[in-house]
Amino acid sequence: MARAIETVGVVGLGTMGAGIAEVFARAGLGVIGVEVDAEALERGRGHVHRSTDRAVSRGKLAEAERDEILGRVTFTGSLDDLSDADLVIEAIPEVMDYKRALFTDLDRICRPDTVLATNTSSLSVTAIAATTSRPGQVIGMHFFNPAPVMRLVEVVHTVVTEDGLADEVGALARRLGKTPVTVGDRAGFVVNRLLLGYLNHAATLLERGVASRDDIDNAMKLGAGLPMGPFSLLDLIGLDTSYEVCEVLFQESRDRVHAPAPILRELVTAGLLGRKSGRGFHDHKHAAGQARSAAEPAGRPGVVTVCVLGEGAGELSAKLSSAGAKAGEPHDSDVVIALSRTPVVEHAVRLPHPERLVGLHLAGGDVAEVVSTALTSPDVARAVQDLIRVVGLIPVSCADRAGFVVDALLYPYLNDAVRMYDSGYASMDDIDTAMRLGCGYPAGPFETLDAIGLPAVRDGLRALYAEYREPSFAPAPLLDRLVTARVTSIRGR
Ligand code: CAA
Repeated sequence: MARAIETVGVVGLGTMGAGIAEVFARAGLGVIGVEVDAEALERGRGHVHRSTDRAVSRGKLAEAERDEILGRVTFTGSLDDLSDADLVIEAIPEVMDYKRALFTDLDRICRPDTVLATNTSSLSVTAIAATTSRPGQVIGMHFFNPAPVMRLVEVVHTVVTEDGLADEVGALARRLGKTPVTVGDRAGFVVNRLLLGYLNHAATLLERGVASRDDIDNAMKLGAGLPMGPFSLLDLIGLDTSYEVCEVLFQESRDRVHAPAPILRELVTAGLLGRKSGRGFHDHKHAAGQARSAAEPAGRPGVVTVCVLGEGAGELSAKLSSAGAKAGEPHDSDVVIALSRTPVVEHAVRLPHPERLVGLHLAGGDVAEVVSTALTSPDVARAVQDLIRVVGLIPVSCADRAGFVVDALLYPYLNDAVRMYDSGYASMDDIDTAMRLGCGYPAGPFETLDAIGLPAVRDGLRALYAEYREPSFAPAPLLDRLVTARVTSIRGR
């Protein structure tokens, strides 16, 4: 018989724990928020108050409703106050030893029928469950940051979770206004497995100098249509958490793409943890450190003659002409633009003035990746950026590498999703739902694959593999087979 869950304990009131406490209280449940030290307890209380005040100031919540929500939460420094909770969820730092010690205490303190849940991002729920005398009643309940906003909860069951508990916890997630996706206990579950590989790869591209922080953020936000760029999102998640999740993913996958990028280690060691410490990849305290605006004012182009080559050249040429540039030939133009989704240096070396060639790749309708080869003159690259702004596009500068920025980050993520599905871990619908509701993506990876076209993604992955030699960039066998069989929709197959 399903348990009545009316009182919930939340242990750990950092960003996630405080958000989770708010979510439960908003749904009408009584919440006991626990932090062991007084300072952290006050910070947790502050989080919940600020978040609900913000909802009031935005007109999303009446003052009386806020007061009722806050009235449902009690804050305490003692785990003993959880002795009568129906469910306790843990949201403490991602250190297995801390989690084991906490669950041993909770097992002792809580009623025998209390469900013990963990909000771990990637650690083994099975290993946590095994520290208790009730492993069948231990489950993962994984929320996403900001918890009051993101609509997904991953419900993680283990081989010893008692029958029916995942459904009960799924029903509870629905009561909170969330959508549950139930998965087994693998490192990173669905979302972090796909998300952190991508975020870590973005950090690697930054370290390799393929593009700047702001160009990568703008490319993924404005070009790929994601709600945030990867560095803004890393800062939101916290670089310490991101580092830990990558580490755990690497331990399980032994895949180099999960090995935390050295820049993550450096920033974490320096105490630059992202939003929570005021600075990470971005400076969240000082305006000067904020992301460069994508839409800088468009001045007059300083270029007189432009030659555009490649598919779609006519259309771009016409736009540039109406913006005041003169159309020329490759040998006599100030600038040669090669429209291409693959590296362009081979075009440059065939020109009399290779320093005048810039590659251009249009991403998502608004963004143009402006590609400088090893030979491109910085003045020419700048001139093309100005031209691009004049025709209403947002330029993103990058080096002449396979996939440039957008495809280099998007395609391996899509490939990982195909591998995840093909391994039998989760259905395509669940993976799509998880990425849409957990990360606010406009579409799930399988929807995106179908929209781009399977052959384009497969060929893009082959090019990425040839360039970076990362084994996981090689097209997933399923993707390869579908393209060979001329199947056009992975979801419709
Ligand atoms: N707490 C509470 N509410 C918040 C909030 C916060 N920290 N930040 C934003 N919101 C609310 C706002 O109040 C607003 O609500 P209303 O529409 O009801 O007014 C809404 O969110 C939108 O906020 P904004 O207009 O200020 O900002 P936005 O439109 O840029 O959205 C965002 C902000 C919701 C964070 C959006 O950028 C987004 O979806 N980003 C992706 C976040 C993501 O991927 N999260 C998952 C990370 S992975 C993870 O958490 C798992 C893990 O284990 C590591």
